[in-house]
Amino acid sequence: MSQAGEVLTADEGVPPVDLRGDAFADNPRKVLAEALARGPVAKSKRGYEFLSYSLISDAFLDDKLDTAGPDHYERLGAGESVIWFVNNGLLSTMARTRHDPIRRLMLKAFSFRNIEAQRAEARRTATEMLETWIGDGEVDIIRQLTEYYPIRVMSAMIGIPREDIPGFAEAAHELHLLAAVPMAPGFPRLEVALEELKSYVRRLVEARRAEPQDDFVSALLAAQEVENKLSEDELIGNLVNLIFAGMGTTTKQFASAIHDIVKAGLWEELYQHPDELGDMINESLRFSPVTQFVVRIVQDDTVLGGREYPKGTRILLNLLAASRDPEKFTDPDRFDITRVNDESRLPFGWGVHRCLGQPLARLLIEEGLTLMSNRMTEVTVTDRDRGPHPAEMLGGSTSMTLSFSAR
Ligand code: HEM
Repeated sequence: MSQAGEVLTADEGVPPVDLRGDAFADNPRKVLAEALARGPVAKSKRGYEFLSYSLISDAFLDDKLDTAGPDHYERLGAGESVIWFVNNGLLSTMARTRHDPIRRLMLKAFSFRNIEAQRAEARRTATEMLETWIGDGEVDIIRQLTEYYPIRVMSAMIGIPREDIPGFAEAAHELHLLAAVPMAPGFPRLEVALEELKSYVRRLVEARRAEPQDDFVSALLAAQEVENKLSEDELIGNLVNLIFAGMGTTTKQFASAIHDIVKAGLWEELYQHPDELGDMINESLRFSPVTQFVVRIVQDDTVLGGREYPKGTRILLNLLAASRDPEKFTDPDRFDITRVNDESRLPFGWGVHRCLGQPLARLLIEEGLTLMSNRMTEVTVTDRDRGPHPAEMLGGSTSMTLSFSAR
């Protein structure tokens, strides 16, 4: 360990952690807790894993770290459409010179007022979906609610007609391959999906250009004309990104919240005390964050946690480990809605790339859970898959069966 003030090299005395072995596949939390007990950093095949809450908080705010940019995708052998998307649409990978002004423009659309205006649509959409199975007593809640409810509400907000959704939903779903580890095998499918989404969004933009409406696409077009802030490629790319960015994450985080609340025996509590909804969602975001890690590349030599990381180093901010850091969260493996836990920097990121859709994601989960607790009682989770390998960026189940009685 370092003497006071001494700066270590990145590697010195850093223990390895195996994220590909059976132990991690069987019980990722245990492997990460053991690694964190050895120190705040470990080395995996992916790079340096930052495990502690405080180190990750510092890393989010260190301007010498940034997300992996287009050159990373080029090195992996990505095709033309993927490279086009990471340059023009994927806000988290764009060069900062384009990212910052585009993010500012997007933030206007994600203002508190605009997001609150989606509440009635969220309630209406969730109710419509729930009515189709509420009499059955059993439901795969992911297939029948959490998977398509966010994209329907997002689409209404953007200005996409409901009847168009089935035409591109599969392609939008395919974009989850951008978070797969390894990513390269998914490139051919990503090319096809992106071409489909681009051509759909192009047609939509042309329609709104010809006949503007009161929606997000028309507002972006107006901003493009007046302020000349977005190129045509950026306009198309960012709309594709919005369709995709909120889908898988919100789907899975909503499903995890249902699971955690049921398993903690708090379903009736939620019904009786709806004012505890926010605490339950916050605790579930901590307990089961679906974004399991985010990637950072060192842009210029930097010192973090007493170690020097040279330019080009790949660092993984391991949100799964930090969300159970005992130095930050007392008794971290307990689902405890009374803990003071109103921070969002782990589940939604922090700093220049913090999640743009956080208020919308929260609103969707709030409305969905409120409706479910008002209409469903005696809820149990009877089946649930384990989701992708725990070393993937996006965790969380892909199917979950609930049994219940209607109330
Ligand atoms: C519960 C659901 C969600 C979770 C857990 C989540 C998580 C995250 C995280 C961790 C980041 C930071 C990535 C990084 O630092 O590298 C992020 C960024 C982002 N999220 Fe979300 N997200 C969710 C929902 C949404 C929704 C609904 C939207 C849009 C409608 C959205 C749009 C974005 C965008 C555009 C960025 C990139 C921001 C930037 O680079 O400036 N997210 N999200």
